[in-house]
Amino acid sequence: MYLSCLLVALSFHSALSTTCPRRCSCDPAQSVQCYRATEIPREIPLTTRRLYISHSKIKQLQFTDFRRMSVLEELVLSCSGTESIENNTFKALSSLKSLELCKNQLKQIPTFLPSGLEILRLADNSINALHASDFAGLMKLRVLDLRNNLIATLPPSAFSSLYNLQSLILDGNNMESVSVPLRLPRLKYLSMADNKLNSFPTNFFASFQSLHFLSLSGNFLTKIPLDLPKSLLSLKLEKNQLKMVRLRDVKHLENLSEFLLSENQLTSIDGENTGKGDSQKIDPGKY
Ligand SMILES: *[C@@H]1O[C@H](CO)[C@@H](O)[C@H](O)[C@H]1NC(C)=O
Ligand SMILES: *[C@@H]1O[C@H](CO)[C@@H](O)[C@H](O)[C@H]1NC(C)=O
Repeated sequence: MYLSCLLVALSFHSALSTTCPRRCSCDPAQSVQCYRATEIPREIPLTTRRLYISHSKIKQLQFTDFRRMSVLEELVLSCSGTESIENNTFKALSSLKSLELCKNQLKQIPTFLPSGLEILRLADNSINALHASDFAGLMKLRVLDLRNNLIATLPPSAFSSLYNLQSLILDGNNMESVSVPLRLPRLKYLSMADNKLNSFPTNFFASFQSLHFLSLSGNFLTKIPLDLPKSLLSLKLEKNQLKMVRLRDVKHLENLSEFLLSENQLTSIDGENTGKGDSQKIDPGKY
């Protein structure tokens, strides 16, 4: 009896009296920020809910780094030169909702991500391929940000678990084509600007029943893609190679309020000469 009370008292005491690691600041709201670290500090309080590490030199993340941080909800590790992550490093983090590993040197998507994850940001890394199993089981994921990586293709089933995905950002990659339709029924925001896309297969956009925002700026498109979803509010096609616009391709977009076409090679809109050879903004409601 006495012994178990003592143990409870001891563990209670150790949970409260944790010290803040060197080069970190810890605040009472269970958030910890660290800079210029060379490894994940060992003494981070186990009650930490938000952990921010940046401007550090941490080449590899290890399975043991976060293993005991069972209440961690948000982890940001940026600008830290991280190149690789051991299998299962994040798997046990059952409370983790947001994982941000931007501006590192990762070459692949971290493996075995926890199933409660809602936000995954991996922008500005060197990820050069996606694999079918990368996002397996991430049923709650809402935001996936992969901008400024080296991704060339989207494998057929890579996104098949992502039933709740609302925002997919693939700007600044190396994509020349997309082969298969993606089934992302809840997607509202899709951005694939600054790739090398020149066309889309028929029906590529058909399954995006909720899409509001689509940006395909900075690609090599010569035509407006067919079958754009009716739900669109904003369509960005600047900096492509469009020569003409047929209004029948966008006529069904009854709620479109933004349609950007600047920096193309437009000479006609439905056979009408545009005069300047370039058009800034067209309101399809007028036609
Ligand atoms: C990590 O997991 C992948 C996929 O299951 C496996 O192929 C690979 O061998 C594992 N790596 C190590 C070092 O265990
Ligand atoms: C256009 O907007 C109206 C009003 O918000 C909405 O009821 C309608 O379903 C929208 N149309 C499409 C095709 O999404």
